[in-house]
Amino acid sequence: MTTPPLPGDSLAAIATEVWLRLARGAADRRAAFSRMQVATLTAQGWPDIRTVILRGADEAGRRLSFHTDRRSAKASEIAADGRVALHLWDPQAEVQLRLWGQAAVETEGTEVEAAWSRLAPRQRQVYHAPLAPGSTLRAPAEADPPHPPADGRGAFARVDVTVARFEWLELRLTGHRRARFDWQKGWQGRWLAP
Ligand SMILES: Cc1cc2nc3c(=O)[nH]c(=O)nc-3n(C[C@H](O)[C@H](O)[C@H](O)COP(=O)(O)O)c2cc1C
Repeated sequence: MTTPPLPGDSLAAIATEVWLRLARGAADRRAAFSRMQVATLTAQGWPDIRTVILRGADEAGRRLSFHTDRRSAKASEIAADGRVALHLWDPQAEVQLRLWGQAAVETEGTEVEAAWSRLAPRQRQVYHAPLAPGSTLRAPAEADPPHPPADGRGAFARVDVTVARFEWLELRLTGHRRARFDWQKGWQGRWLAP
């Protein structure tokens, strides 16, 4: 597989590349940015972090989306405090992308219905699991989804993150490149020492 060229020393090209890579990640499970880590704050003020599948990248709305079970710890944490940090990593290109923004858990509405309609039956059943994620089990099978499959959206939720800032880090033998972009009616970029 050939690696596409990186944007080089242009802030504008990096901002374009970031949203292109995020769109590719949301559309293609084989893309480097198909999975991301989402960090939240717990009620005790600890950071918590986990991997999710990137499901949507809307550049115009500067919004990233993923799916989750609304009974999960992350959903409760986001409901209490929407500040999140996101992390993506392309090992081939040696590019790290960090983003910060405000997340919201959505369980109703046309976008949630559209996201649900795109899921395969097997993916839908996960959201009908009888117990909330993280529940203690006597045996693993206790948490298995029901047979026959249940109707409805169960505990399905879509989380939307409105991005306020992102940082690009590209490792290069000839000198690493780090740039930060803040949303101010447009992406305002600047170089940072790596
Ligand atoms: C490759 C991979 C992809 C995952 N994708 C998702 C996802 O899209 N949504 C999700 O809620 N959990 C996903 N998980 C599971 C989470 O990482 C996490 O273990 C689970 O959601 C419970 O997290 P919480 O207790 O912090 O809410 C994924 C895990 C892995 C390893």
